[in-house]
Amino acid sequence: MWLINSSVGRKVVMSVTGLALILFLTFHGCMNVVALFSGEAYNTICELLGANWYAVLATVGLGALAVCHIVYAFILTAQNRRARGSERYAVTATPKEVEWASQNMLVLGIIILLGMLLHLFNFWYNMMFAELTGMTVAHSPSDGFAFMQDTFANPVYVVLYVIWLVAIWFHLTHGFWSAMQTFGWSGKTWLDRWKMIGMVYSTLLMLAFLVVVLAFAFGCAPSLCCAM
Ligand code: HEM
Repeated sequence: MWLINSSVGRKVVMSVTGLALILFLTFHGCMNVVALFSGEAYNTICELLGANWYAVLATVGLGALAVCHIVYAFILTAQNRRARGSERYAVTATPKEVEWASQNMLVLGIIILLGMLLHLFNFWYNMMFAELTGMTVAHSPSDGFAFMQDTFANPVYVVLYVIWLVAIWFHLTHGFWSAMQTFGWSGKTWLDRWKMIGMVYSTLLMLAFLVVVLAFAFGCAPSLCCAM
């Protein structure tokens, strides 16, 4: 099948799954910002996303998207290396205009994957998994606000999350315009525009996550100063 056998097809799969994951991140970032203003409102959203059939279905879909994106990333990288053959070892200087992020997409992806495992352990395991299995956890499984307070009270987690968010930012700044290029919007003018749009969007998105982590770490958000 074209999407599996051809290199263009594989790039299309990477681009479509990558953009779908950015869409999820946009929703997730907006949801997290709510926690800055009201713990009660945040937990109401967490309850909606609890162990209901539609939330579990969405989680399975999200997991499938992520697995597809990661598996194709390894296939494409292996394919590019094979195509370059021994040339890869002969070239030591990288042209200046090639961005750092584009050279290191796989490494960034691996850092993101490790951060994701930690994140799923911190939240998904204590929330959705605990609710599904009836496992006893520190708070009610829909009390996302309390799990955020616990997680970001630990400075080691705060540092790891900041590194993780920076890695995602680099990954998105390259991934976004690269996806647009795959879809054929690759004229010089449009490529420059997509690069700018991708840069602004990724920066705003990651800032939304970063502000939440730092606000919880330093205890400075409206939702944290007033009793819930
Ligand atoms: C840095 C600040 C973040 C905080 C405070 C946070 C918080 C949470 C919480 C509370 C949940 C559980 C929601 C629920 O089950 O009701 C969750 C789930 C999740 N988060 Fe995050 N998150 C953050 C960043 C991220 C980022 C950057 C990503 C992706 C790169 C991400 C991906 C996920 C995924 C995949 C789930 C599981 C969703 C599901 O069960 O369908 N999170 N997060």
